[in-house]
Order: sequence, then structure tokens, then C-alpha cells
Amino acid sequence: MNVLIAPSLLAADFAALGRDIAAAERGGADLLHVDIMDGHFVPNLTMGPPVVKSIRRVATVPLDVHLMIEEPDRFVEAFVEAGAAMISVHAEVLPHLHRTIQFIKSLGARAGVAINPSTPVGALEEIAGDVDHVLVMSVNPGFGGQTFIPRSESKIRAVRQLLNAAGNHAAIEVDGGVDSSNAARLVAAGATILVAGVAIFGSADAERATRELREAALAPVSQRV
Ligand code: DX5
Ligand code: ZN
Repeated sequence: MNVLIAPSLLAADFAALGRDIAAAERGGADLLHVDIMDGHFVPNLTMGPPVVKSIRRVATVPLDVHLMIEEPDRFVEAFVEAGAAMISVHAEVLPHLHRTIQFIKSLGARAGVAINPSTPVGALEEIAGDVDHVLVMSVNPGFGGQTFIPRSESKIRAVRQLLNAAGNHAAIEVDGGVDSSNAARLVAAGATILVAGVAIFGSADAERATRELREAALAPVSQRV
């Protein structure tokens, strides 16, 4: 089972992003997860394309950009130009989700749909054959360091089933409250990309925390917590 570790820069030191990115990459980060918030869809603000562009300049792994914004169609092009390799948009804000997914793909980026904890898996039914990845939010989006919502584990299983039924081997990304204590269970449920903010950058040693999260994710069943 191939698991990708995607440290979320939301928990990094924004005045020392280069240093924190390098530490996560030394620890084996496969992707860097970049959280974009607009103060409307979620009650918080983060960054825009210029910062993503600067991150792209120093990063050596692909950028996984999570758009927690209303009207993402207005901005996807700017984020792809800034260097996003993957873009996730929220199903909750898109009446024309199919169009947006095709648009992201036409720009050359991997296109994913994110769903909030209260959004049913069924919201993905008609788009399951088209997505490159699905992002299952395991906390309510907006902030790092929140507690993992246990129900998300069975939700990942249901998303896997839906994608399989559509004949799509798309990745499933889980985001929110992921750490060494739940990583293996989430992988067993079908997650293939683990996003982690506080578990990595909240620790004193982001390099080691990245490595430890992968080890925990791949631990044999008998060692799983
Ligand atoms: C939350 C963001 C997450 C956040 C996760 O809205 O989408 O990517 O950084 O943070 P942790 O891993 O600290 O829960
Ligand atoms: Zn995120």
C-alpha cells in the first residue's frame, strides 16, 4: 500500500516557511498541503497565489492546494499558474462541480473534490468517475489542531466503495486531526494521502514527525493503536 504524506503548512511558521518545508521534505514528505481560506466559506483567512508561488520556488515536492473558498472557479487558474499540482474544491460551494473539475484538469492540474464532515458521500456519486482524488475532511475546515471526527473512518470506506464502483482508482486524502494514533486505521479504511498539520509542524522536529507519521501509517496491524 503506497501512502503519501502531505504536511499541511497551515501549522508551519509562516515567517520561516522555507525552513519548515525543507524539514518536512528531509523527513520524506511526498506533497505539501497548502490551505487557502477566504473568511467566507470558512471563518479564517490564509494566503493567496503570490505566497503559493513563493512556496513553489523553494519546494521540491508537488503542491496540493486545498481551496476552502467560495467561487473557486475565479481563482483556480491563478493557483495553477502559481504552481499547484493538485487542486481540491469543495462540493458544498459548487453548483457546477463537473464543470469545475474538467476546468482544473484542462489547466493540467490533478482535480479533487473535498467534502465537509456533514456532507454525505452521496454528493460525490455523479462525479466519482471524473475525479483524480477525493478529500475527506475529518474536522470542520477552517483551523488546524482540531480533534479528529471518528465517523470519518467509515466515511473513507464508503468513498472507496463509491470510487471502486465507478472504476476509479483515485486517491483518497484525509485532512484534519490526523496523527500517529489514527494513521494506520485511516490507511486500512482506504486513505492514500494523509494530511497532517499540527502533528508535524506542532512538534519540535518536523523532519522526525514526518518520518514517524509514515512509519505509523505503515505499521503492521498488530502494532496499530
Ligand atoms: C483545516 C485544514 C487542514 C489543517 C489540518 O481546515 O484543511 O489542512 O491544516 O490541520 P491538523 O492536521 O492540525 O488538524
Ligand atoms: Zn486542508
